[in-house]
Amino acid sequence: MNVLVVGGAGYIGSHCVRQLIAAGHKPVVLDNLVYGHRAAVPEDTPFYPTNLGNEKEVGKILRKEKIELVMHFAAYAYVGESVTDPLKYYFNNVAATLHLLRCMIGSGVKKFVFSSTCATYGIPEKMPLVETMPQAPINPYGQTKLDVENILKSFAHAYGLSFAAFRYFNAAGAAEDGSIGEHHDPETHLIPLAIDAANGVRPPLQIYGDDYPTPDGTCLRDYVHVDDLSRAHIAVFSKLSTPGAALFYNLGTGTPTSVLEIIAAVEKVTGKPVPRSTGPRRAGDPPALYADSTKAKTELGWTPQFTSIEAIVETAWKWHEANPKGYAKA
Ligand code: UFG
Repeated sequence: MNVLVVGGAGYIGSHCVRQLIAAGHKPVVLDNLVYGHRAAVPEDTPFYPTNLGNEKEVGKILRKEKIELVMHFAAYAYVGESVTDPLKYYFNNVAATLHLLRCMIGSGVKKFVFSSTCATYGIPEKMPLVETMPQAPINPYGQTKLDVENILKSFAHAYGLSFAAFRYFNAAGAAEDGSIGEHHDPETHLIPLAIDAANGVRPPLQIYGDDYPTPDGTCLRDYVHVDDLSRAHIAVFSKLSTPGAALFYNLGTGTPTSVLEIIAAVEKVTGKPVPRSTGPRRAGDPPALYADSTKAKTELGWTPQFTSIEAIVETAWKWHEANPKGYAKA
């Protein structure tokens, strides 16, 4: 299938591009490179550095490349920044998505895979999370993702758009061959920061609070390998042949892992200590978030291949060890 990967030069998008190629599909990447890395996209994959607001150009790409399905990874994802600059988030995550959807409807492309997030659930009352639990985001980032989920529902009803929205838990790790990996600027995520601290290329890690109501006092998250996430995006293709399909899936391993357990895994895998200190809680961090992904398992036959945190961290370490500064600029 010819697939337009919007945000295909970003962390999850670039891994999905490789998985699409491995599965025999033809990805075409659109990425304005605000946060993406050209080097994360294979040289021979068609690449367009276009903004979604340029509907004329996006429409042309859809037609020229005979696109059958669009995957949309391009979003700003800094929770804290979304609180201080919500305008940026609503414009990029919601308004830009509307441009993309209008181009798709205009060009007759009616299959869509959307990157959503467990942040749409807010601070849940029960764990693990199932898809039917109430969604009440506690920050603009989560709200923008929920807004798009709702937009998609109405488009499925009105225009026969078929879509799957994947609610990711904590994407982690890197390609097994070490070719691509995680490089955010600024970096805020636990695993790359812990690895960089061990590697001596960043200051000591700060643990954001150790007084949570969890077994060791630090937050619990559900770390899922980025290639496992990518494989779910492809497993859903056959379901999108039904016009108006509106599908929502949690993607996580279901295993809660604490901040201290991540540090221990990084120390084991790298063989180096992680210099750290304990600081106050980070605003907006729920104590625990982990998934019940039974729906994805049952309906898509999706089973995460990376089931231990050490195995995930090993792939991240392989990337960081070879690329301590991430991708070269440009
Ligand atoms: N943490 C630290 N120190 C750090 C960085 C993180 O202790 O320097 C802790 C956080 O407090 C949290 C855990 O490590 O408990 C994981 O933090 P990340 O920033 O790596 O990931 P989040 O769980 O905050 O964020 C992820 C996604 C977001 C999404 C969010 C939903 O990266 O895109 O889940 O809550 F919005």
